[in-house]
Amino acid sequence: MSEPTLSFERDVKPLFREKDRASMSKAFDLWSAADVAAHGEAIAGRLRDGSMPCDGPWPAEQIETFTRWLDADARP
Ligand code: HEM
Repeated sequence: MSEPTLSFERDVKPLFREKDRASMSKAFDLWSAADVAAHGEAIAGRLRDGSMPCDGPWPAEQIETFTRWLDADARP
């Protein structure tokens, strides 16, 4: 049985708060699947090393959802 397909709109976008989007808007748009995919490795790196978000790291489960979406095919 394969894992269910992850969707940006349904599964990933809701993980980014308005505050995250606003804080990072000069670098990329965290509510845009295309932008997040384009900066996916940098974003995944910061999530994994715990340096982003600036006010506290994500739980492992959220990081896993993000990297699974990115590694699959980063679909909208
Ligand atoms: C899940 C949410 C967030 C993600 C995925 C994220 C991701 C990133 C990434 C990938 C960079 C490096 C950008 C580059 O070098 O071009 C970065 C830098 C930065 N972020 Fe965020 N960010 C998030 C939330 C926030 C929040 C809430 C703040 C604080 C208000 C913040 C403040 C900054 C600052 C000040 C930098 C530049 C300094 C540095 O590189 O550490 N970010 N972020």
